[in-house]
Amino acid sequence: MSTPASPLRWPAEALWAAVVPEWPGFSIEVLPEIDSTNTELMRRSRNGVNDPILLIAERQTAGRGRSGRTWHGEVGQALTFSLGLPYQPQSWSGLSLAVGLSLAESLGPEIQLKWPNDLWRQHRKLGGILIEAASQGGKSYAVIGIGLNIQMPPTQDLRTPATAIAEFWQEATAPTVLERIIQPLLKALKGFETQGFAPLQQRFNARDALRGLNVQSSDALEGLCEGVDSQGALQLLTRHGRQTIHSSEVSVRPL
Ligand code: BTN
Repeated sequence: MSTPASPLRWPAEALWAAVVPEWPGFSIEVLPEIDSTNTELMRRSRNGVNDPILLIAERQTAGRGRSGRTWHGEVGQALTFSLGLPYQPQSWSGLSLAVGLSLAESLGPEIQLKWPNDLWRQHRKLGGILIEAASQGGKSYAVIGIGLNIQMPPTQDLRTPATAIAEFWQEATAPTVLERIIQPLLKALKGFETQGFAPLQQRFNARDALRGLNVQSSDALEGLCEGVDSQGALQLLTRHGRQTIHSSEVSVRPL
């Protein structure tokens, strides 16, 4: 069975030429369909392939979100990709926040961040990040998966109201959004590898969608959200004093 030609035009060669001086051996691959770009790069890593790559899928059949959730996105409705990078940060703490911050800064001043790794606009979810890591022979490999809504899906999961980039950037397509975000993102990843999250703390807190709100965490903490610390951990002022949430497996919701 033949696959219909994609309506999307990816600027793969221009991106590759811009990126390869900083990341020797970098490659860019666009697939019409795959189960999940994260799953694929983790599979390749298990098979010993740990090269720097940007893997884009026009459609994922089993896209994954945080905490075992699924991530849906049909062709043209979402930008879905994973970066696979040999990566040796001193600490991984705050990496997903650094990624979210870079995306938000590329997309515009009104984009906010919901700890630990959602992008929000006007209290609705615009995108999410799923980071996984593999390790072989003392070397680590990061798989940084990003899903951004480009067009609103016809049906919505009402537990998490969604929004899309086309609501504020009408001509946006998955390729044009990728072109806008990818270089700043790779630069941010280089910066994080050497400096960690601390230099980004203030910029994250300036975009923190939860700051100043009363929130409840999935592990039953309630309190006033006071932003993140220099490691990217969420600080809550609770009835029992200040509590810090480190685990990105914990989710928080405004009350
Ligand atoms: C979340 O919001 O829970 C994270 C969503 C991450 C989705 C992206 S889409 C590209 C990459 N491949 C996946 O299977 N997931 C990530």
